[in-house]
Parts: sequence; structure tokens; C-alpha cells
Amino acid sequence: MEIKPKKIGLFYGSDTGTTEYVTELILKRIDKVVQINTYDISEVGSLEFDDYDFLILGLSTWFDGDLQSDWESFFAAFKKINFSKKKVAIYGVGDQIGYGEFFVDGIGILGRVVVDNGGKMIGAWPTEGYDFEASVAEFVPGWFMGLAIDEDNQGEMTEQRIEEWVIQIMAEFSLITEKGAVA
Ligand SMILES: Cc1cc2nc3c(=O)[nH]c(=O)nc-3n(C[C@H](O)[C@H](O)[C@H](O)COP(=O)(O)O)c2cc1C
Repeated sequence: MEIKPKKIGLFYGSDTGTTEYVTELILKRIDKVVQINTYDISEVGSLEFDDYDFLILGLSTWFDGDLQSDWESFFAAFKKINFSKKKVAIYGVGDQIGYGEFFVDGIGILGRVVVDNGGKMIGAWPTEGYDFEASVAEFVPGWFMGLAIDEDNQGEMTEQRIEEWVIQIMAEFSLITEKGAVA
């Protein structure tokens, strides 16, 4: 039997560079022995998704609850992806004060497609510590479907949040054992 190496595909989109910056922080936290390939969503299609059972998706939210522009362009194709057998973690960047009624909605918009198309979402993150009015990403009260980052208002918390979330998702992907070694 062929043993497929465990690898992660990370797909992100960023309009003004904030999600790109957050992506770099996430990559720095992922153990070097984990194979991870990173793609700007503006440069790929759904075919690249076929290569991975483990996915990390990153995006910002714009214009009152819309997807980041490259994800918006890709969204029709995204909705056709079969996510069964895939584990997916999503991080979203937003502004809870300026856009508190739509905070990190993009996480929820992508996450719902993943679930509807048979995928398993991992990396749920508590809403505690944020101050917002509503979010499509809050799939059950008190929990976002993925990691929410707010560089506009809580930039000082970004690194700590990422550090904790990366440990969480590596365990949920089963890429680390309890002893911290790669499985
Ligand atoms: C015109 C405009 C609309 C925005 N709309 C939202 C929104 O609906 N929800 C949200 O959480 N953030 C919103 N934001 C905040 C951005 O998502 C945030 O600034 C983010 O860091 C941008 O990341 P990017 O440079 O990777 O695209 C908006 C920002 C601007 C300037």
C-alpha cells in the first residue's frame, strides 16, 4: 500500500496585505517537519485542492460581510469542491469595531461550504475576548468556526492567538502526538 506523506495545503487571499502578514506568522509557527505548501488563491484553481487532505484557508472580510476579492472571484469554483475526507481549518482577518455586525464573516461563508460539501471543520475558536455584534463565523454561541484575527484593534494579541491556534490545529489534524512529535 502506498503511504501518502502528510502534507497541508494553505490557501490565502489578501487585499491590503494584512492576511498575507498573518499567513507568514502562521507559517513561522508550523513545525519544519510538516510539509506545507502555500498558495495565493488568486493564482490557483480547484485542482490544487485535490492534492490535500489537510487544508488551511485564510482570508479577510470586506464591504459589510463580503469575501476578500480573490476568494470572491474563486467562490463559484470553491462551492463545487468535494471536501469529504478533508479536514479544514480557517483563519480570518477583520475589524470588530469598524465592522462589528459582519466581523470575520468570511470564515463562516467558507466554512459553511466546507461542511455542506462533506468536509470536517477543525480549529474552532472562542469568541471570548472579542467585542462585536454579529458574525456569520459564530456557528454556535461562543464559538467562531476558525481563528479570528483583528489587526486593526487587537494587533498586540495576534501572535499569542496564532501560537495557541497552530498547536490546536496540528493536534486536530493529528500531525502531532501528545509528546509534541510528528505522528
Ligand atoms: C471598506 C472596508 C470594508 C471592510 N469590511 C469588513 C467587514 O465586513 N468585516 C470585517 O470583519 N472586517 C472588514 N474590514 C476590515 C478588513 O477585513 C481588515 O482591515 C483586514 O485587516 C484587511 O485584510 P487584507 O489586507 O488581508 O485584505 C473592512 C475594511 C474596509 C477598509
